Amino acid sequence: MAVHVIVTGAAVTDASVMNTMTSSMTNKSESLPVNEHESISRFHGGGLNAAAKEFNIPREQWLDLSTGINPNGYPINTLPAEVWQRLPEDDDDLEAIALAWFGGSSVSAHVDSHTDRKGIFETDKAPATGCLPVAGSQAALQLLPSMRAPCRVGVPAVGYAEHEFAWRAAGHDVTRLLPDEVGSALAHLDVLICINPNNPSGEIICADTLIGWHRQLSARGGWLVVDEAFMDMPVSEEARSKSLADYYFQLRAAQQNSGLIILRSLGKFFGLAGMRAGLMFAEPALCVAMKDRLGPWALSHPARYVMARALADVSWQATTAEQLRQQRQRLVQLLVEAGFTVQGHSDLFVYCLHPSAQHVATKLAQQAILVRHFDQPSALRFGLPGNELHWQRLARALAR
Ligand SMILES: Cc1ncc(COP(=O)(O)O)c(C=O)c1O
Repeated sequence: MAVHVIVTGAAVTDASVMNTMTSSMTNKSESLPVNEHESISRFHGGGLNAAAKEFNIPREQWLDLSTGINPNGYPINTLPAEVWQRLPEDDDDLEAIALAWFGGSSVSAHVDSHTDRKGIFETDKAPATGCLPVAGSQAALQLLPSMRAPCRVGVPAVGYAEHEFAWRAAGHDVTRLLPDEVGSALAHLDVLICINPNNPSGEIICADTLIGWHRQLSARGGWLVVDEAFMDMPVSEEARSKSLADYYFQLRAAQQNSGLIILRSLGKFFGLAGMRAGLMFAEPALCVAMKDRLGPWALSHPARYVMARALADVSWQATTAEQLRQQRQRLVQLLVEAGFTVQGHSDLFVYCLHPSAQHVATKLAQQAILVRHFDQPSALRFGLPGNELHWQRLARALAR
């Protein structure tokens, strides 16, 4: 077995990968570039039905590690009938709760009665503006491109491809960039999209760098969009130093938060992917404009109700953050012992470059374990097993 080095949050540095993925600032087009558009993979993992069919293994036998979703997500109790039956109301305090959560301040009440909601969330943050609950961060990232005239947009060369897809589909001039290309490209961009931490590479761009980029872009009416779907929870100091949340509040206090857009998801850390819930933090006018476009009741009443409780439950968040960290360390160790080169991670997935990624994924699928594999670069992403039996099953499958 080769010696394997763990590079925490490292950039994708394989030379051949760099060559393939390096963007060309000259490779721009005025209209929708059909070929590039078609080459964008919109495959996202979690496709158990398709896997069951392809490998002829019943769905219930599968261990799904193909997503970066917390397998032990926020517990949902039976919801009051009213939550299902009544339309959601926008003035339910959800925005204030989300701002308090994002600001890392404690939300000071126990949420146990849907009838007693008014006023139970006392926050020390500013009034509930500049925050928009959405039906998954996907809903916001899909609409953002329609809120600017065609312009020049930089997207991550490696990363969640829906950003690139959405901006291209809306007719913008899109350039794929590696992190170390952004500095020199910035002068030619109006919008920069960053995924922090990156999915799938796990790479983190440090907050100071992002702040510098935001200052340059906003000075000329540009946007910095930071997709923090996989960012740690705001509860710890360490997490706060990686997120742009504090910078967002500084700008808000100075009423200068134009051009900074931060996306958060309830689908990853909270494990509530099926609920479709996320948040956009941006200047109030942009949130209002986005809200208008989304129309009334864009987020279901059950989603708003559960989201409020999950965001307010700081104790569950703190316990979960620690558990995920430990599980991720265990997964890194398991993969290294099995001969993989771990290239990066978030606390919800581990990313390994591997020359025969597809072959490995197929071998695991034949044992009813679903993982994501990527072609460019050839790599695998493993989500966290949810219980001890699943850990042992993965270990056995990797040993074969
Ligand atoms: C980096 C990243 N951002 C955003 C999303 C969208 O997630 P959601 O719409 O569930 O918030 C995903 C989904 O996988 C993602 O990987």
